[in-house]
Amino acid sequence: MKGIVLAGGTATRLFPLTATTSKQLLPVYDRQMIFYPLNTLIKAGIKEILVIVAPDHSGQFLNLLGSIFKNHGISLFFEVQKIPRGLADAFILGENFIAGDNVAMILGDNIYEDDLSESIKNFKSGGTVFAKKVKDPERFGIVEFDKDGKAIRVVEKPKKFISDYALTGLYVYDSRVSEIAKSLTPSDRGEIEITDINKKYLEMGELNVQKIEGEWLDAGTFDSLLEAGNVVKEKEIYKNFDPLIDKAIADFNEELKIIAKKRLL
Ligand code: TTP
Repeated sequence: MKGIVLAGGTATRLFPLTATTSKQLLPVYDRQMIFYPLNTLIKAGIKEILVIVAPDHSGQFLNLLGSIFKNHGISLFFEVQKIPRGLADAFILGENFIAGDNVAMILGDNIYEDDLSESIKNFKSGGTVFAKKVKDPERFGIVEFDKDGKAIRVVEKPKKFISDYALTGLYVYDSRVSEIAKSLTPSDRGEIEITDINKKYLEMGELNVQKIEGEWLDAGTFDSLLEAGNVVKEKEIYKNFDPLIDKAIADFNEELKIIAKKRLL
């Protein structure tokens, strides 16, 4: 299983914060936002991760992540997404990296309270996605279930109510996903939509939708960014990181301190 963190985009809803840095490098309590999705993948035992970033912020991502996992058995790769063409673009940009393996892709601004490692580790083929009940389904990709709880339809931002289960920002697919992504035509908003990938797997009868109960936060607005920090602190999500990430961050902090001291001398 390979991993992808999609951390590009323009983050217009967070202007002016994101005039100077990437949304995914903003702090959520005591660490940069991107460590949360990285943690979700690393906890699931994924060792090779592609981080997709926007051109303006590639240097900042490299400064933070370029060598942070070097001595911790995790290989990070970087790819620049020149234009934010949509979430499904991750599988086109990442095609050579995926190289015929299964892949777990997570959005760089998504934070999960639940440990989803087992679902990722147990993945065999097709697609596995994670649904969470929301109050405002018109804002999300939505999944409808039949009376037996089987997923029967996925719709991007439905105007009319069909279900209040949103598909969250973690997607596990088999290697066919890159071919599927390449076959998509952009939607009215000019993006290639992950909802269309889910539709394809659903049509093939191979989409497994798992409901999640714990907190799911996408830190894309001022309010949700603030809420993310508060929830992470209150529910101590930052204490449930994989020890490998904690150690890597602690080592990095030590290194920064040593460099800072040398500069003062
Ligand atoms: P969004 O929150 O939908 O988009 P955005 O981050 O550009 O923000 P805004 O709507 O305020 O302009 O994106 C969800 C995640 O996916 C986020 O982490 C950014 C990432 N993303 C990309 O990396 N590339 C893309 O083409 C898109 C659409 C999103």
